[in-house]
Amino acid sequence: RMFKRQMVCRRDIERFNRSFLAIYESLIPPEEEKEKQKQLLTMLEKLVNKEWPEARLFLYGSCANSFGVSKSDVDVCLAIEDGDTRKSEILLRLADILQSDNLQNVQALIRARVPIVKLMDPASGISCDICINNVLAVVNTKLLRDYAQIDVRLRQLAYIVKHWAKSRAVNETYHGTLSSYAYVLMCIHFLQQRRPAILPCLQRMEATYSVTVDGVQCAYFDQVEKLQGWGSRNRETIAELVWGFFYYWAYCHDYANTVASVRMGRTISKREKDWTRRVGNDRHLICIEDPFEVSHDLGRVVDKFSIRVLREEFERAADIMQHDSNPCGTLFQPYVP
Ligand code: CTP
Ligand code: MG
Repeated sequence: RMFKRQMVCRRDIERFNRSFLAIYESLIPPEEEKEKQKQLLTMLEKLVNKEWPEARLFLYGSCANSFGVSKSDVDVCLAIEDGDTRKSEILLRLADILQSDNLQNVQALIRARVPIVKLMDPASGISCDICINNVLAVVNTKLLRDYAQIDVRLRQLAYIVKHWAKSRAVNETYHGTLSSYAYVLMCIHFLQQRRPAILPCLQRMEATYSVTVDGVQCAYFDQVEKLQGWGSRNRETIAELVWGFFYYWAYCHDYANTVASVRMGRTISKREKDWTRRVGNDRHLICIEDPFEVSHDLGRVVDKFSIRVLREEFERAADIMQHDSNPCGTLFQPYVP
């Protein structure tokens, strides 16, 4: 393969692997941090239950999907029977309750796209966003966490890709680039495509977990402890996979005609989803299908300017992996406008 031809010797690959693994290790949150997050959740749940005894809190996002780096904000979902009460009313009441306790910087952002209450816990220094009844996010968080259990290379690759995206300023949905969630799905999709595959497609296996949330059926094989070692026939290392990931998104992905689908474990055609033209603000210039809300394209935030930025960054990264004698140094160089 080109990579192997270009990378002059085995020693180089091993050196690159060591550097990538060191970066990966340095980004993993320490156990104490996880412990503090759990304590905060328990404390919040007590406060919430005084007002709403039936309500429950769930972690979602990077603090629960196993792709969170150290010192990330904590995303919490308040699951509550809301009857006719408006979300904004619940959020304002929640903000009141939290304010009168020891929490700082409590703010209800009720006009945001996803309305939330923000707060900071002075005891731990942890910042936290609480949304209401975003149960699909809790379920897709579980899907990501379950995929991560199958092969450690997913977690390694996703950490490197997220770290790269943050360094290169292409992890900003408000600037038309992609969310962390989208990058993790791109990594899963990529590992499903390797030959031999490194990840299976859990949604096409016999469902051992099934819930219906907001009318969306979410079902997949979640007994992932039975799948450990599933991808071990493929012996590619993290340096090879980082190269392959960027090479795929720079030079191989068919942006004009295909959609990356973790749900199907392969690419599917844009035509079959009717994602071939712009509808409203959805331009579909890079298509990443949400595994459960299949009408959601995580690439919908990307516009004709940011698609160029993104693709140039993929090419830059692929070229660095191909030619640079110290890729780790160059890959994560902060983007300076
Ligand atoms: N999410 C979603 N649909 C989106 C974006 C996000 O359902 N279009 C949900 C997912 O459950 C995701 C969570 O919101 O795990 C948080 O999204 P994001 O901030 O992109 O990812 P994090 O994993 O929290 O990454 P970071 O470390 O950058 O905070
Ligand atoms: Mg987050």
